[in-house]
Amino acid sequence: MADSPSRAEIIDMLRQHVEAGCTDMLTEAPVNQFAASEIRLGLKSDSAPPRDNSQAQPTGPATTPLAIPQVPPETRIDTHNLAASADSLDDLRATMDHFDGCALKKTAKNTVFCDGVAGAKIMLIGEAPGQDEDRQGKPFVGRSGQLLDTMLAAIGITREENLYISNIVPWRPPGNRSPSIEEIVTCKPFIARHIALAKPDILLLVGNISNKTLLDTQTGITKLRGQWQSYEADGLKIPALPLLHPAYVLRRPETKADMWTDLCQLQKRLAS
Ligand code: URA
Repeated sequence: MADSPSRAEIIDMLRQHVEAGCTDMLTEAPVNQFAASEIRLGLKSDSAPPRDNSQAQPTGPATTPLAIPQVPPETRIDTHNLAASADSLDDLRATMDHFDGCALKKTAKNTVFCDGVAGAKIMLIGEAPGQDEDRQGKPFVGRSGQLLDTMLAAIGITREENLYISNIVPWRPPGNRSPSIEEIVTCKPFIARHIALAKPDILLLVGNISNKTLLDTQTGITKLRGQWQSYEADGLKIPALPLLHPAYVLRRPETKADMWTDLCQLQKRLAS
């Protein structure tokens, strides 16, 4: 028989579940997933007589499937004009705070707009907030952000002094899933306007989604990383360096050397 997991392994498994969002509330009322799956499997009819709930706490319908709110196509908003109407970073932040056309906003605690020095020469753009970012309302403050901070500090870049940070999607996708194409398409005009207003000299594009979205490419990050690209939009042409996502580097520590190599490229360019 296989050995039972050690205490450390159990804690690690629990930590992974929490990081994956298993502790997050997606609906106001609890959902009985066992009942829902019995119905899906045909083990139970969903036209069963109503339960006697007189003794129970108000919990909502027992058989409601887990509902991730979706924006119906007819109410989808084209965000280009909305984003273009913002004429300062504060204005853009307020516009996004008031925007309700992305379903992710319904389950997120905060709109994660930015961190660091507005107007800094370097702007780093990630994918979407995770649990820590959603709680604190700032990008890259969890484990991957800490790794990023440490690696960038080694070449003299810090969010306190000379770095501005944002994400493609400003609302946390529930359960730490990747943002959907639809969510990315809705949010892209916001980050494009964000870049146009922040006017960085250099973009650091972190991970696949950031690169594919802003460089309009299908090439994956493992091929693109470390090779200077050009971000071209709104009359701007900004040198952009694709970097591995720090969450990927944390999962695959052997890629740290690649990340260092790419950061050396950046350091060389800053020194030239
Ligand atoms: N990953 C991202 O891409 N962005 C964050 O802000 C945090 C984690």
